[in-house]
Amino acid sequence: MNNAELVATIQRLRRERRAVILAHTYQTGDIQDVADFVGDSYGLSKKAAEVRDAEVIVFCGVQFMAETAAVLNPGRAVIMPDPEAGCPMADMITADQLRAFKAEHPGAPVVCYVNSTAEVKAESTVCCTSSNAVKVVRSLGDVPEILFVPDMYLGMFVEKQIGRKMVLWKGFCPTHAMIRAETVQRLRQENPDAKVMVHPETRPEVQELADFVLSTGQMIELAKKTDIRKFVVGTEDGILHALRLTAPAIEFVHLSPFLRCPNMKKTTLAKIARSLETLETRITVPEAVAGGARRSIQAMLDIAAGG
Ligand code: 13P
Ligand code: SF4
Repeated sequence: MNNAELVATIQRLRRERRAVILAHTYQTGDIQDVADFVGDSYGLSKKAAEVRDAEVIVFCGVQFMAETAAVLNPGRAVIMPDPEAGCPMADMITADQLRAFKAEHPGAPVVCYVNSTAEVKAESTVCCTSSNAVKVVRSLGDVPEILFVPDMYLGMFVEKQIGRKMVLWKGFCPTHAMIRAETVQRLRQENPDAKVMVHPETRPEVQELADFVLSTGQMIELAKKTDIRKFVVGTEDGILHALRLTAPAIEFVHLSPFLRCPNMKKTTLAKIARSLETLETRITVPEAVAGGARRSIQAMLDIAAGG
């Protein structure tokens, strides 16, 4: 089947299955175009929790995102077109490792980036995404110690924003960590008329050279309202499609062809069509884990919604 036939099949099956398709902005453009909702991790969590009309949520992203949808909306079948799409950063801390980390720092609250397993979320005080990490950490007040897992670079970004140290787990995103400061310097020289935006999963020395450090959702929001006409974009390449659709008058230059997450690219139109046909692969989280994970995700949603 060619792409047009696959899209027609997906449209038909989506109606028959009463399904809704959610996609992260790191998915390829053809998948973003067929989705009912495209967003960042925070937007997708909120959306997944709100789904009422549909019976099935097809999640085009990576495992931890589909797990979060299953935790927040246990009444719906959450399916992943390719269940092998994981997140190496999420796998850099296990629940056992987090329990040992907590034992070394008794009483310290744990802020856990949403890029983590449901078991790790269940062991945490509160979750965060890259768009609300600063607000979530601030909400904890002046406690002696805060543990932040698993992304040390997002942790360092938060530390800088709020002017305090945390105890950081040494995880990172292998895709964003590949980007070096020299690349930003070179792209700046090649594009003197552009501003540079990067994701907080990049290294601190990369963030240091950028004009804006933003989550993917914040990048889209900036593109909607800015007078700036050219950006160098330092995050996964799927975002370029969403940015160009949002702001066709702005020129977007990708910082590096290495900014491509192999797991985000595992989903294809053909796999979406097949998953709607077979309703496979269903993502479930045992209630013993889901209850704790729901508590820490809900704590984040409450803080993010607050003034
Ligand atoms: P955001 O969607 O919060 O920008 O995070 C990006 C990411 O790494 C998702 O895996
Ligand atoms: Fe994980 Fe990085 Fe891929 Fe996001 S871009 S899913 S953090 S590996």
